[in-house]
Amino acid sequence: MTRIPMIAGNWKMNKTTSEAVSLSQDISYGYDSSLDDVELVICPPFIDLKSVSTVLSFDKSRIALGAQDVFWERSGAFTGEISPGMLKEVGCRYCIIGHSERREHFFETNETVNLKVHALLNEGITPIICCGEDLATREAGETLPFVISQIKAALEGLNEKQAADLVIAYEPIWAIGTGRTATPEAADEVCAAIRQTVGDLFSDSAAQSLRVLYGGSMKPENVSLFVPMPNIDGGLIGGAALEARSFIDLAKAFA
Ligand code: PGA
Repeated sequence: MTRIPMIAGNWKMNKTTSEAVSLSQDISYGYDSSLDDVELVICPPFIDLKSVSTVLSFDKSRIALGAQDVFWERSGAFTGEISPGMLKEVGCRYCIIGHSERREHFFETNETVNLKVHALLNEGITPIICCGEDLATREAGETLPFVISQIKAALEGLNEKQAADLVIAYEPIWAIGTGRTATPEAADEVCAAIRQTVGDLFSDSAAQSLRVLYGGSMKPENVSLFVPMPNIDGGLIGGAALEARSFIDLAKAFA
């Protein structure tokens, strides 16, 4: 089974609309046919989605658009929230769910992650489900059970086909934005355990087609360590996605 590698840029709370237009144009100009076998996704803040979508469609770009969060209801009195249907209409193919920053600052739980996964799939948007342990959990030797329980909760109620098409991003919290990365072998071990969990819950073929990304200080300078890892299918990139050249270089490493 050959999985198409993915490089997804999580812009977090960065870029005003004019800055987002200029970054997405630079990424689009930097794209060349050597990247045709890698899937590139950019995930700007909600307010920039429409403008970035316009840039990508004007350029007839192969780069996909993603959001950074969603609410699970279809519509109604939920001040400040954004529905899956709104994301769909603006052109989102992907949506990041359960990022550790949302779990920490905005009280996201395994249960709300699962509600969001279902809501997105009902709208035909692929969730990029984030998981990962903090330093205390890693030092206590509890990483695998912790991450596996996050995955089991996030995937509750899905069918085999839905599981097969998912993207899961393993992001150890202590590696995000810190310049520290997990060793490639340690990251691969967790990504393998995630794949095995999907195999146990659904089927081997779902496990083999699911894409698992690593995230946490991945940059052009260290990406070559992760590329050969058999269970890592690409990266969820924060800091290095805010500059077109480094984002394109990361994607090229997986081409
Ligand atoms: P980082 O962020 O690449 O800046 O470490 C990754 C993420 O939070 O998705």
